[in-house]
Amino acid sequence: MRRINLAIIGGGTVGGGVYQALRRNGRLLASRLGVQLSVTRVVVRDLAKRRPVSIPPSKLTTDWKSAIRDEKNQIIVELVGGVRLAHQIVKQALMAGKAVVTANKALLSEHGQELFELARKHQTNLYYEASVAGGIPIIKVLREGLVGNRINYLYGILNGTCNYILTRMEKEGSGFAGVLEDAQRLGYAEAEPSLDVDGLDAMHKAGLLGSLAHGFWIPPEQIHVEGIREVTALDIQFANRLGYTIKLLATIRPTAKQGVQISVCPTLIPDHHVLAGVKDVFNAVYIGGDVVGETLYYGRGAGQDATASAVVSDLADAALDLVRGGESRLPAFVSHVENGSVFPWEETVAPFYLRLHVIDRPGTMARIASILAEAQIGISSIIQPEGHEGDSVPLILMVHDAKIKAMQEAVRRICRLKVVHGKPQVIRVENFEF
Ligand code: HSE
Repeated sequence: MRRINLAIIGGGTVGGGVYQALRRNGRLLASRLGVQLSVTRVVVRDLAKRRPVSIPPSKLTTDWKSAIRDEKNQIIVELVGGVRLAHQIVKQALMAGKAVVTANKALLSEHGQELFELARKHQTNLYYEASVAGGIPIIKVLREGLVGNRINYLYGILNGTCNYILTRMEKEGSGFAGVLEDAQRLGYAEAEPSLDVDGLDAMHKAGLLGSLAHGFWIPPEQIHVEGIREVTALDIQFANRLGYTIKLLATIRPTAKQGVQISVCPTLIPDHHVLAGVKDVFNAVYIGGDVVGETLYYGRGAGQDATASAVVSDLADAALDLVRGGESRLPAFVSHVENGSVFPWEETVAPFYLRLHVIDRPGTMARIASILAEAQIGISSIIQPEGHEGDSVPLILMVHDAKIKAMQEAVRRICRLKVVHGKPQVIRVENFEF
């Protein structure tokens, strides 16, 4: 049986998981592929560090450059995380003509275009299944399974940490800060949580999915992003009363005009929608294709085994490409739309949830309603709960479709009213009506 050698650069959680998965299922994989995958080297930062997955000391090294140079290694797996070093590793490996597997969404988001081009130039390929939604094979779905479809919509819950925090806030009625602290203590959130809770991780993933689905490169700075720090327990409770749940949702939709709408932001979604049932650390992607109709993909978006499963599937593809000659596989990224563009966020039209704190006195509602009416924004429902103490009471309005720009301007005017206190909360609503 043909043997393909590989080096794993990064012996942390994911690197250890890949090593373990290959040890556990290597024979099964070989019998399925007709190719044996063999790990020659695991490159680590510190040889002396104790590791949860035991790797024979003879395979460990700190020298990533010689792991790439070594003629034996035909595949290089980059699992160091971060961007700078990972960028150097992937570049050098591609320039050496090696097939490269990576799980690094931040790297691809920042340097994807350059790296895909480098892979093409050096007649090799870059594989990145683990970079989006962990164990869900969503890159394969877009590149292969749905290749015969135009993608009419793609919605994703792409960050497990945010979904875990929002699920607990909903279940317990607790605030963001307390739940984040607890999630950090339990290992569900990083000590430095901003990549996750500010929506950046989901933005990297949405950019990759959007680029694949629509055939032009979508750089991260063109994606509208809001994280979940400002979502309060009160918003979640009111959303529930109105029949909605709040998710950090990636939305990728071509518009009727020109360009693709792409955003990552807290969004109210109807309780009855299948994405509302995606709880805790799970991820899900809901895609509509013009031929296939609606489809749904669900699974663990992070963690050692889920990510290892995706990396191993890339290893299988890379190995088969090496054995059969890679010409049959599509390159890492195929650009098929010239002059594709991102639809301006402010021009997007959607219904909204608006929470204000107001002085409960006659005329308050009338003033707010008249500002909305002047902006041609219709109100669909209102809640002003009884029994709130203190100077101001929450006032929740659901409004019909409005242009974001018009909504922002109306909210600015509303906030200038003396009867309106504190910061307003404006959250988009997605009713999945196509
Ligand atoms: N930190 C991510 C998440 C997983 O919470 O989903 C890696 O992208």
